[in-house]
Amino acid sequence: MNARLGDRSGFDAVQARAYFNHASMSPPSRAVRAAVLETIDSYAALGAGAWMHWSERRALLRDRLARLIGARHADEVVLVPNTSYGVIDIATAIDWQSGDRIITWAGEFPTNVTPWQRAADRFGLELEFLPAPCVPTDGAPLDLEPLARALRRGARLVAASAVQFQTGLRMPLEAIGALCAAHGALFFVDGIQAVGAVPIDVDAARIDFLACGGHKWLMGVEGTGFLYVRSARTAALRPLVAGWLSHEDGAAFLFGARDELRYDRHLRGTAQVFDVGVTSSTGFAALDAATASLEALGPAVIHSHVQPILDALERGLTAEGFRSVRAADPELRSCILSAIPPADLDLADCARGLSDRGIAVATPDGHLRFSPHWPNDLAQVDLALDALREWISMVRR
Ligand SMILES: Cc1ncc(COP(=O)(O)O)c(C=O)c1O
Repeated sequence: MNARLGDRSGFDAVQARAYFNHASMSPPSRAVRAAVLETIDSYAALGAGAWMHWSERRALLRDRLARLIGARHADEVVLVPNTSYGVIDIATAIDWQSGDRIITWAGEFPTNVTPWQRAADRFGLELEFLPAPCVPTDGAPLDLEPLARALRRGARLVAASAVQFQTGLRMPLEAIGALCAAHGALFFVDGIQAVGAVPIDVDAARIDFLACGGHKWLMGVEGTGFLYVRSARTAALRPLVAGWLSHEDGAAFLFGARDELRYDRHLRGTAQVFDVGVTSSTGFAALDAATASLEALGPAVIHSHVQPILDALERGLTAEGFRSVRAADPELRSCILSAIPPADLDLADCARGLSDRGIAVATPDGHLRFSPHWPNDLAQVDLALDALREWISMVRR
């Protein structure tokens, strides 16, 4: 598929007149659906004979994912089933010392909380929640003083989302990473609301670990994702979650040689140690097809394409009495626009009213959330705002 900004012709099955819900899930494109079919057909024809081809294709996918986040080497990227598994892999692999402190923020999606809570419980750690980041709507930078104060008290790891799922605040990862580095803390990032549509550079932001699911901004399907592990960090990890493919040459006993079936092989010394068993060929073929378009367009170009769409939505929502929670500083903006409805409008009813009129949005944590991606265009904003005005005049009548 030749991806063109604002062209949704490759998404011909989408029923919504304006699909503004990529922060929840992207509808698979025709290319993604074809990739799934191609994979399953090749297994139908060849059975196990298809495996090697798709395994090699997954290695190329890891190359591309590494490029998308500025990682130096594909060995730093492992394919996992979702963001959660990436967090769990790391939360259970760090050589925690009792009393180690983990810092995160209130308002994080639970994916980036539950595994740290479990690790705290199991390894005797302290999990500190900073107050939810207050989105600066006046152009000020994000206040990182609470983080700096917490780091001065000592911390082993800081866990942040690259983009906050409910407000769309793009976290200043480079500033946070610099603070972590200055205080000797590891930096973990949940990248699912950013990677693909918001530029991320793991080196510039000194990110040690990044987990990301495939079904949102990467435009793949559920059950796919990846985990980045900075190569300098792998030697210190003690993976608790490991499986037969976590070993060096773990599959060697399957290719004809005798006496290769052993249980004493070393665990792999790269992120690949978290590749624990056979994985979803169809799902990762889908992710491969989806990310080919993303790479061709480029996250920075996609991010710029989306901003005028969000500007127009924000103007229209504000005129109807909604309060936008979008940051004023362009550096703190993602591809999400969230707004709080006026007191007389019910949020769930509003989303239903929009959905009935063919406009797909979401309602996380009290916000009406719009999340356009590269196939959206400005004409769809008019459809959405017309639908909103029509619904409002109906409920206020
Ligand atoms: C910030 C964030 N992290 C994680 C997830 C999902 O995690 P997983 O891929 O494990 O389902 C979501 C949304 O579903 C999210 O918004």
